[in-house]
Amino acid sequence: MKGLVLSGGKGTRLYPLTYTSAKQLIPVANKPVLFRVIEAIRDANITDIGIVVGDTAEEIERAAGRGGRWGVNISYIHQEAPLGLAHAVKISEDFLGDERFVMFLGDNVIQGGISSLIAQFASSEYNSQVVLTRVDMPEQYGVAELDNEGRIVRLVEKPKEPPSDLALVGIYMFDHHIFEAVNSIAPSWRGELEITDAIQWLVEHDRSVYPYVHRGWWIDTGRPGDMLEANSLVLEELTPHIDGYVDRDSEVDSRVTIEKGAEIINSVVRGPAIIGEDTRLVNSYVGPFTSIYHHVLIENAEISRSIVLEHSQIRNLDQRIEDSLIGRHVIIHRSPIRPRAYKFTIGDHSHLGLLGNGR
Ligand code: DAU
Repeated sequence: MKGLVLSGGKGTRLYPLTYTSAKQLIPVANKPVLFRVIEAIRDANITDIGIVVGDTAEEIERAAGRGGRWGVNISYIHQEAPLGLAHAVKISEDFLGDERFVMFLGDNVIQGGISSLIAQFASSEYNSQVVLTRVDMPEQYGVAELDNEGRIVRLVEKPKEPPSDLALVGIYMFDHHIFEAVNSIAPSWRGELEITDAIQWLVEHDRSVYPYVHRGWWIDTGRPGDMLEANSLVLEELTPHIDGYVDRDSEVDSRVTIEKGAEIINSVVRGPAIIGEDTRLVNSYVGPFTSIYHHVLIENAEISRSIVLEHSQIRNLDQRIEDSLIGRHVIIHRSPIRPRAYKFTIGDHSHLGLLGNGR
């Protein structure tokens, strides 16, 4: 069995973070979402993995490489434009050949336990299996309608009137019949070759398509709020360890991970939280559900329920930062010189929440 990961697309909903980098590489609990996907596939004993890449190909190839660090072989498949999930399957036919495969969207984070399901599909008779989960707003996803025996009757992409609350969570398993389907369908109203239409084609041509309803959590990390939510859920499940240095004046509770080379000086860290490699916390407070990536400096500042990416600095603030997603090489500090004014250098589509006088 082979693995296919979709990592093309533009990530416009995560601007400005994704102007210069791929959304699949934003870390959740200090590990890029894409790496979590690769590990889930590897845990199903699959070693041949193809990654579909688009505009951000170079960055993704640099980060994931040939897959040696996970003991897998990664091939890259270039998609000229994000023409749809079924289009991505179509251009991967040479890589996939006749083998059964699992396809993962590279920007979804799912609670563990899915790997054994994938391994079972390898030896099953099914032509396809799709993973579903119950959601509050099905109109934002591909939605499945099941019959009384629990088999799939119909799939619709982002329906105005959803036939159920069962959404397709970006994990799909197929045999080679999917190629006939992706070559038979036409682009949708949004101009994409939809994987939901291709699966519907399989259903209508008497192929066996089975649903699996996932009961744990699942997050499509499309928007900043989703990233923070995924970060909280993964941090809750992390097994903590301390590889960095914590001085005697600091207080670090039991659900905190401190990575190698990090230094915690006269600071308080309340878990679940993770402090990345070579990051320094000085006279600061890091609260629950926070991930600070590598080479960050936090000095005389407080932050909670946030993600801070690499090489950023947060210094000398008198208000706590909360619910924030802070990019790479960002500097946030209170200037010691007058006038006491806010001074910003901020990219397009940034969001700042400032405290008013009324507090
Ligand atoms: O997140 C689950 C949903 O994902 C499903 O419920 C929908 O049925 C499915 O169509 C998909 O919807 P989205 O609109 O959220 O897909 P998005 O455009 O965000 O793309 C998902 C991933 O696939 C993302 O990592 C980018 C990549 N991609 C996307 C397209 C359209 C590609 O690699 N190539 C593409 O052509």
